[in-house]
Amino acid sequence: MIQHRSVLELRRRFPSDFIWGAATSAFQIEGAARADGKGLSIWDEFCRQPGAIADGSNGDIACDHYHRLEADLDLIAELGVNAYRFSISWPRVQPLGSGPANEAGLAFYERLVDGLLKRNIQPYATLYHWDLPIELQRRHEGWLSRDTALRFAEYAQLVTRRLGDRMASIATHNEPWVTAILGHEQGIFAPGIRNRRIAYQVAHHVLLSHGLATQAIRQMGTKADVGIVLNMSPISPATDSELDAFHARLEDGKLVRWYTDAVLKGEYPSDILEHLGADAPVVQSGDAALISQPIDFLGINYYHPTVSSSANPTSPVSSSTAAVTHMGWEVAPQSLAALLLRLKRDYKLPPIFITENGAAYEDHVVDGRIDDELRRAYIESHIAAVADVIRQGVDMKGYFVWSLMDNFEWAQGYAKRFGIIHVDYATQKRTVKKSGQWYSALLHARPQPDSQTA
Ligand code: FCB
Repeated sequence: MIQHRSVLELRRRFPSDFIWGAATSAFQIEGAARADGKGLSIWDEFCRQPGAIADGSNGDIACDHYHRLEADLDLIAELGVNAYRFSISWPRVQPLGSGPANEAGLAFYERLVDGLLKRNIQPYATLYHWDLPIELQRRHEGWLSRDTALRFAEYAQLVTRRLGDRMASIATHNEPWVTAILGHEQGIFAPGIRNRRIAYQVAHHVLLSHGLATQAIRQMGTKADVGIVLNMSPISPATDSELDAFHARLEDGKLVRWYTDAVLKGEYPSDILEHLGADAPVVQSGDAALISQPIDFLGINYYHPTVSSSANPTSPVSSSTAAVTHMGWEVAPQSLAALLLRLKRDYKLPPIFITENGAAYEDHVVDGRIDDELRRAYIESHIAAVADVIRQGVDMKGYFVWSLMDNFEWAQGYAKRFGIIHVDYATQKRTVKKSGQWYSALLHARPQPDSQTA
């Protein structure tokens, strides 16, 4: 049973205009990989590489959201969110990554955006959640080529021309670190390249494309807020040895400061440039100013803290007794609060959204119900951490749970479930989990305006 008083008390700690949402991304839920003129993406191809995806699966069908849009919109509305974060598939709206738009693709996102607005839900779009049109990778070196940043700005303009009058928020990129490092240094995500020099040139071009797209979007005169979504994890040294402290600082520079310094300060951290040496990216004059032009918001995706030592530069768990999720990620809501306070200390911040936060657990369907108490508790404790930092003066505007529904979890395939709504992939039946019922109760809770303490 949902504890009504506890959700009211939690809700009371947030301002009445706080944005409450749920998030997904195109490749992870849409399916319809070849429908209605859609081009393929680097993820369609990557999934075909033997061994790339843990369960050998792909995104061909996923949650079949493309064909189930109306019913999914109703589900989103029933939850009671006032915003929905989704991503737009570049190859669905511009199959070759340049040149003419695919009308059917644009029409799909138009139905999505209008369907949200009709239900009083604000559309929060992300333009790039990793599904680069395959053509740009095959013929034009993908993000290694500076031209891809120019193509991205054109794509951003094409989307804004059609939908910019109705979007509440446009994020250029989701997690540039993942695109650059998991995709091009570690090679465990598409396009599966393993080369540090390439990875950092990619990181630079992705950030550059953020700047170019931001400019292009604003030129269209949209009212939508424009920003970027960065993944972050506070990194602490495993011991108090100087060597571990050195490694923690280095890893923090590569994961967090590389992106935050570039976007918020207009520079790359000097210790990381020095560390990279000949692998540092080629940067042209004017790039830094483009990358660091003012943004309306910064989205932060937070899942877990990281511990660093000379032996193990990044571990998502601090001790053998720590509580971990099905991903093996430590559950540490206080680390989210620490991260936000640190950002407030070190940067002049735009308004902040938690654009993703959530947990994978092994769900069991019993009598048609999913009693995912661990996920519910994870979400509750992290929302409470957001309330804590609001009290401490961080300008938090919203929270999006990852994810609306179970979906294709990249290299992990379908085995890792993050949804607050369960998906039975054999039947595509959706069932709201206990965590979803709890979140919905929180969203429907209506504290009296005069009793707000946040
Ligand atoms: C983030 C991604 C998102 C999802 C979660 C678990 O890095 O942005 O698509 O896979 O992790």
